[in-house]
Amino acid sequence: MPQLIAALLVVLFALSPAYGDFDSLQLVLTWPASFCHVNDCVRLAPKNFTIHGLWPDKEGTMLQQCKPKPDYVNFKDKMFNDLDKNWIQLKYDKDYGRNKQPLWVYQYLKHGSCCQKMYNQNTYFSLALRLKDRFDLLRTLEMHKIFPGSSYTFQEIFDAVKTATQMDPDLKCTKGAPELYEIGICFTPKADAPTPCRPSNTCTKTGKILFR
Ligand SMILES: *[C@@H]1O[C@H](CO)[C@@H](O)[C@H](O)[C@H]1NC(C)=O
Repeated sequence: MPQLIAALLVVLFALSPAYGDFDSLQLVLTWPASFCHVNDCVRLAPKNFTIHGLWPDKEGTMLQQCKPKPDYVNFKDKMFNDLDKNWIQLKYDKDYGRNKQPLWVYQYLKHGSCCQKMYNQNTYFSLALRLKDRFDLLRTLEMHKIFPGSSYTFQEIFDAVKTATQMDPDLKCTKGAPELYEIGICFTPKADAPTPCRPSNTCTKTGKILFR
């Protein structure tokens, strides 16, 4: 039986569109204190949200590693600095990050490849920066009396974020812990309007969630 399912998955995968075909984009913002609690961070964790990625989705499924595999050209100068500030490679020191750009390469090949028909490398990364800039989630949460260092219910955090995003965000919690890890905000393919996110259901809906 498992072989049959595996074979079926292979067939389904082979039939899936090669690239470019997506129906929403999710901007995933990481809360660095939580990320660095479960990962080894080399960079100082900023007290603000940072980009994890911009993920194309189709019919409720996250697309991954789409073909053709795009080339990645290292960013330099101003674009490097903008990314280094807003899409910070927390696990790598700045020089290594500048030379290898591991997080951005990984995100681009895994996710950016799946919207390459619409966005090339430059427009993909610029779009992520532009979308991030539209939301000051830290300030939004503060306005709703949600501060780092305390715990809140799922609904409290969700409702606060939704005042900024208009549409349902996706709260993501640390694996196996009631702790806010990331917030997803979703958009139409052209990113001209917000759309509701598909819930990842990674946070508890009953107890409280730590905003570290
Ligand atoms: C946090 O990030 C947002 C979005 O990029 C930005 O508008 C805001 O000024 C930042 N806040 C602080 C305290 O750095």
